[in-house]
Amino acid sequence: MIEQDCIFLNHGSFGAMPHVVRAAQDRWRSKIEAQPIRFVEHELSPSLRAAAADLAKFIGAQGEDLVFVENATAGINAVVRSISFSPGDRIVATDHVYGAVRKALSYVCDRTGAILVEAKVPFPLQDEDEVVAAIADLLNPKVNPKVKLLVVDHVTSPTALVLPIAKITALARSYGIPVLVDGAHAPGMLDLNLTELGADWYAGNCHKWLFTPKGCGFLWAAPDRQADLHPVVISHGYGDGFIAEFDWVGTRDWSAWLAVTDSIDFHQELGENLRTRNHDLAVLAVQMLAETWNRALPAPLTMLGAMATIEIPDRILDQNPDWDCKKVHNFLWSNYRIEVPIIPFGHKLWVRVSAQAYNEAEEYQTLAKAL
Ligand SMILES: Cc1ncc(COP(=O)(O)O)c(C=O)c1O
Repeated sequence: MIEQDCIFLNHGSFGAMPHVVRAAQDRWRSKIEAQPIRFVEHELSPSLRAAAADLAKFIGAQGEDLVFVENATAGINAVVRSISFSPGDRIVATDHVYGAVRKALSYVCDRTGAILVEAKVPFPLQDEDEVVAAIADLLNPKVNPKVKLLVVDHVTSPTALVLPIAKITALARSYGIPVLVDGAHAPGMLDLNLTELGADWYAGNCHKWLFTPKGCGFLWAAPDRQADLHPVVISHGYGDGFIAEFDWVGTRDWSAWLAVTDSIDFHQELGENLRTRNHDLAVLAVQMLAETWNRALPAPLTMLGAMATIEIPDRILDQNPDWDCKKVHNFLWSNYRIEVPIIPFGHKLWVRVSAQAYNEAEEYQTLAKAL
């Protein structure tokens, strides 16, 4: 549904909904509104569970371990606000953590006296083991004796890195530390097998790379982590178990969750190799930008999914010393109708390009020339 006369290189922020998915959402809304009592009393619960089973199958999990939430932020909040932290407990994250998640962690720390510590992950980096080493330093009980939770991104937001989650969960497990994975970008971008990742909780979004309507996130919890897990909004289901608590968080518009099956069908219709195609395009784009702007590549190419982040060329700030990310963004939009995020990270400005089915190589060349 994206407008035609622009170069849309920011699928990563809010996705883009196909017309067929919009139609599916409309059908669910009509069904709900035709007889809301019958729908809520008889059809909602089985329909939600069927949608959860379809999503679980797509991401390598079991439907009974997965609930829908509004978005990844809600899933992450549910986990961190269900854990009892004591003063001095540590929550470890990385300095690539998404800003809103950092705030949710800070909120929990402010209320409980827990302390947030961030592992410094180099960027650009040469090897995924640099990430593991940075986290290992902080999980070491000699450095932080009371680590109660590790929060780690599957795909980082500012730097677009695919982190080695299985290695990180194995490391945390060796210290007995539970892991919450922020998988906001992963479903649809990466080939997922949640059951094998070794996480305790995994929060994800379907409204980015899986083409659902906005407001379709999920929370997966390992079976032994479900009993003490509660949604941020407590409602009728309280005390009746994981699924009952999350499946009813008050009256809402359920259509985005229920349309997930059509979104998966659409994703699969585009072909088994959509993920590879998007990855290859992101790689092509970042290699071309790196060469044109004489910049280092962000990471080994195996650490990229369908996005890549690279520092903007020096000449932009040399010629416009007062420009910030907003001004660079506005320059690109008003002169070239290029929609792409400009991101401040580590005192520098970066551009993050996304590659989705509707993008083509020439669009990144226009960006290269524009900057
Ligand atoms: C890594 C990461 N976590 C969480 C989020 C939040 O997603 P939402 O706003 O859908 O909750 C984002 C959004 O871009 C993200 O990139």
